[in-house]
Amino acid sequence: MAESFASIVRQRFSRRSVLAAGGAAALLGALPRVVQAEGAATASGFSAVPLGAKDRIDLPEGYVSGTVIRWGDPLLPRAPEFDPAAITRQNQMGQFGFNCDYVGYLPLPYGSTSSRHGLLCVSSEYTQRKMMFPDGADPYTRDHCEVEMAAHGLNVLEVHRTRKGSWYTVRGSQRNRRMSAFTPFTLTGPAAGHPRLRTRADSAGRTVIGTVNNCAGGLTPWGTWLQAEENFNGYFRATPDRADADLAEDLRLYGIRTKSSYGWDRFHARFDLDQEPNEANRFGWMVEVDPYDPASQPVKRTALGRFKHEAAGVTVSAYGRLVVYMGDDERDEHIYKFVSKGRYEKEAREANSRLLDEGTLYVAVFEKDGSGRWLALTHGEGPLTRENGFTDQGDVLIRTRKAARLLGATGMDRPEDVEVSPKTGHVYVALTNHSRRKVADPALANPRAPNPHGHILEMREAGDDAAADRFAWDVLTLCGPKGSGASYEDDPQAAVLSCPDNLVFDNEGHLWISTDGQPSTLRTSDDKPANDGVYRVPVTGPDRGKARRFLSAVPHAEVCGPAFTPDNRTFFCAIQHPGGGSFSDPVCRFPDYDDKLPPRPSVIAVWRPDGAPIGT
Ligand code: FEO
Ligand code: CA
Ligand code: CA
Ligand code: CA
Repeated sequence: MAESFASIVRQRFSRRSVLAAGGAAALLGALPRVVQAEGAATASGFSAVPLGAKDRIDLPEGYVSGTVIRWGDPLLPRAPEFDPAAITRQNQMGQFGFNCDYVGYLPLPYGSTSSRHGLLCVSSEYTQRKMMFPDGADPYTRDHCEVEMAAHGLNVLEVHRTRKGSWYTVRGSQRNRRMSAFTPFTLTGPAAGHPRLRTRADSAGRTVIGTVNNCAGGLTPWGTWLQAEENFNGYFRATPDRADADLAEDLRLYGIRTKSSYGWDRFHARFDLDQEPNEANRFGWMVEVDPYDPASQPVKRTALGRFKHEAAGVTVSAYGRLVVYMGDDERDEHIYKFVSKGRYEKEAREANSRLLDEGTLYVAVFEKDGSGRWLALTHGEGPLTRENGFTDQGDVLIRTRKAARLLGATGMDRPEDVEVSPKTGHVYVALTNHSRRKVADPALANPRAPNPHGHILEMREAGDDAAADRFAWDVLTLCGPKGSGASYEDDPQAAVLSCPDNLVFDNEGHLWISTDGQPSTLRTSDDKPANDGVYRVPVTGPDRGKARRFLSAVPHAEVCGPAFTPDNRTFFCAIQHPGGGSFSDPVCRFPDYDDKLPPRPSVIAVWRPDGAPIGT
């Protein structure tokens, strides 16, 4: 197997020379060049952190970190302090949610570039009862269930930077918000009001109670927050052989089983699809929130499709269209982009949000010659017809996965975060891993089988136009330990990384990657499971694709949501599910290290006491 793998990698990298000789480039005509000289992308800037297993956040020399918010910290006015003996639905509704994932920073006031005062947009992806409840939630009661529902969702926090560089959350600020599995969301776009979205509680099919499994997200140029709904399937149950044929097919495509993962259906009948067959169709969307208006009702934008949304990479095309790149994070699922019909206008804030309701959703097909095509998911075109079960565009969007399969989209190695380089406009996708892939995909955009370590894909839109229907692609970094065929094997300076998950760009155009899974795929030099971390990777210049480790997290934690302030002097990230073990017997007690407190998922800030930008 090692030999066939090596030959795959050789094929893959020899294709680069084909590209250089003009293969895909000739095909695409005005293909954007990869700018090799720009960015001064050298490996200098900070002392690399070793692969670690320490029970503390490890950073380069000259950097410090501090906690900005922890699970249970009070956010809303009158919310109580965290008390592990008094975890109730009501308390949790006013406190920071569990398992923070996405982190986005918006300056205050609106329209400024302040890097000292802003709003943090943070999602709370999911809950872990054995880490949250002293009794391990056994037996599981309605009270446990409703604490979990309240600990899911979204958090908006007003934050300030101190003179010394640390950050604090303004407790009780009128700007703070909590949205959870109890919060109403408006459905907009082509599927809003669709018969498949109507329920007993919402005969109009336009208002959903709750959001769940909010993984990563993205910010729009007009200062709103796009937030993905990822593994919504685990909250529902259904009896497939009792469902009609369409529903049974959807249950299979989205992975809804006879038993839910969370058991909320025992206390809230809408999570049981035998009782409310359309409820799951109201989840798996992209949410938009206006964090600058605490009274605004969040929306689910159906034009962006329904799948296990990981994140949103937002840009404006050469001709002013809004473009949102998105991954569907499951093995063999797809990469999408939405292109608005109308044009972005800087000052038209409300009109810009409406751009997300009308446009075209595309899915990516990768070709072996290094080119690719975006295929439209448009009702009535190609196979997306009534004969194939699609009555209208709402149907196509609700059943996005079925439509993408019919179009022949390329199945990927779990597409996670997508980011657009602010320097070049090229698009980067984290493909975290695919441990069950049996053969490399024919296009070699997923060149390893199996792929336990993941890779970073680069996509370059034809004519530098994000709205183009063709692109060129390349593998930026094939991850893994030395000896695994990683793309940096020949460079002893390059850091080993595995399972890339979240991405962000700094102002210099360097890509920053946080990982999720290294404890099970990498070992430290003294043969311990390696903690997850954060890496900086130049995408141009001599060190293109080679990582340098910036942060090593604590045991059993993944690192999510990397974000910078506009001045790059603060780096935020989320330390999700730290600790492992159980509430009373955790492996580590980050971040309080207090025997009376469990480990708590937290957002941290990293800065330099000398005030210089991060990574320089
Ligand atoms: Fe929630 Fe795909 O990670
Ligand atoms: Ca993720
Ligand atoms: Ca990101
Ligand atoms: Ca993850």
